[in-house]
Amino acid sequence: MSLKGKVAVVTGSTRGIGRAIAEALIDEEVSVVICSRRQRDVDRTVAACREREKGRVVGIACDVREHGQVQRLIDFAIRELGGLDILVNNAGVAHTASVADLKPEEWHEIIDTNLTGVFYCCHEAIPHLRTRGGGYIVNIGSLAGANAHPMMAAYNASKFGLLGFSEALFQEVRYDGIRVSHIMPGSVETDFSSGKKGWAILPEQIADMVITLLKSPSRTMATRIEMRPTKPSRA
Ligand SMILES: NC(=O)c1ccc[n+]([C@@H]2O[C@H](COP(=O)([O-])OP(=O)(O)OC[C@H]3O[C@@H](n4cnc5c(N)ncnc54)[C@H](OP(=O)(O)O)[C@@H]3O)[C@@H](O)[C@H]2O)c1
Repeated sequence: MSLKGKVAVVTGSTRGIGRAIAEALIDEEVSVVICSRRQRDVDRTVAACREREKGRVVGIACDVREHGQVQRLIDFAIRELGGLDILVNNAGVAHTASVADLKPEEWHEIIDTNLTGVFYCCHEAIPHLRTRGGGYIVNIGSLAGANAHPMMAAYNASKFGLLGFSEALFQEVRYDGIRVSHIMPGSVETDFSSGKKGWAILPEQIADMVITLLKSPSRTMATRIEMRPTKPSRA
């Protein structure tokens, strides 16, 4: 199934997994909206992606924690690219600290980005996906959405919450022809966690999974996908 001519918004697409997903979509001739919090990073990413010379690429700064900015993001996609077919909720942050040490503003940054931001994006996008007669929402969760770790309570809470959100959402929108998949990666080789590991999943491998899902026959949907490094460090 060809994705050519579809329109996608990928949140947090100036680096890491989101950037790899945006590039993979562009290579499939999808028109893509790039976004993250800083316009300078967005402009740089749009310029680099345009060199791929396939799908159209535009960009706008958007902090997914701000409902007004998310409204502006989705309006921008509709105005610039004529509609919306695919939403990839990828933007995410983490802080590693004990509950006693985690600052309240760090708690809010994690929950507001990883969970509330996804709600805002879906809330604004779903009416437009319905207008198109269907579409696809891919949420980037984490294995930390099913496995708790000390020093990660806020991140765990956000990703456990996101898993529940995704699974309620797919039941709500399936009869509108909107499919929802929730990808739960283990460690991925990005700036997110410090230091190059050598064994972690590559961002391009998450992007390949997204493309596989989008191209899968519309009669079925994979709702929860756990992706692990084959050979993580034994230590
Ligand atoms: N890397 C891993 O090991 C791993 C494993 C499992 C799941 N994940 C999940 O995968 C997703 C992407 O992670 P990554 O490793 O690619 O992280 P990353 O390299 O740090 O990239 C995160 C992206 O999100 C953007 N972002 C952060 N806060 C934002 C906000 N409030 N509004 C809009 N954009 C925002 C960042 O740009 P700015 O900061 O400039 O805004 C950046 O473009 C996250 O949801 C993460 O939880 C990662």
